[in-house]
Amino acid sequence: FQWMVCDHYEEMSRQAAQIVARQIQQKPDSVIGFATGSTPLGLYQELVRMYHNKEVSFERIQTFNLDEYVGLAKDHPQSYYRFMWDHLFGQVGIQESQIHFPSGIFQDAKQACEEYEIQLQRIGAIDLQILGIGANGHIGFNEPSDVFVMGTHIVQLTERTIEANARFFQDKSEVPRQAITMGIGNIMKARHILLLANDESKAEAVQSLFSGVVDPRVPASILQLHPNVSVLVTSEVAYLLK
Ligand code: F6R
Repeated sequence: FQWMVCDHYEEMSRQAAQIVARQIQQKPDSVIGFATGSTPLGLYQELVRMYHNKEVSFERIQTFNLDEYVGLAKDHPQSYYRFMWDHLFGQVGIQESQIHFPSGIFQDAKQACEEYEIQLQRIGAIDLQILGIGANGHIGFNEPSDVFVMGTHIVQLTERTIEANARFFQDKSEVPRQAITMGIGNIMKARHILLLANDESKAEAVQSLFSGVVDPRVPASILQLHPNVSVLVTSEVAYLLK
């Protein structure tokens, strides 16, 4: 791991944006894997700022997102597609043809997963995958489980995740109970992984990245087997690591 402890959230976001921008400068047609949630918001804001300053262009990239809620259409206010559109894609000139997302609306779950798998296989490998981490150690929506699931699949969200995500909805009962997510194998195929964590609730989960134990009950622990992971955390998260 390359890992860096940043003084505060803004610094973490700036450092992350530098890594993303460098990737795109070196390879303008990079495939970038994006995450939603609160953690990368500062990173996306910084990328929007850099785009307006002409420090980075997203014209030739391809994007792949980790996950989507089952039952929410692209234009639903709480869909992850909409989140990405509002916070980044729509603000930096990314066209719909550049965007790849698992579909939350489908008749046949297996087919929906296969369709995303085909898109992922066609692209070969994601150059840079941005990840947040759940307090329970989930990455994407790969929740704690007895096994690692390799490919795109449907998951039941845990009560803890539903509660954590209820803040984006009017009421907890509106949070979808299922999501469609890239699997652990898809994430592990990325050439470079950039994991961000700033909230102290993530400290234990982040510690699992350094435990020496790979355990599907803490899905992020698999990242210890990846050859190229950058972990950027704030000091609130790092206190357990010393
Ligand atoms: C989002 C995702 C999730 C989040 C995680 C942390 O696409 O895949 O794994 O990264 O739940 O969420 P926040 O950043 O909201 O704490």
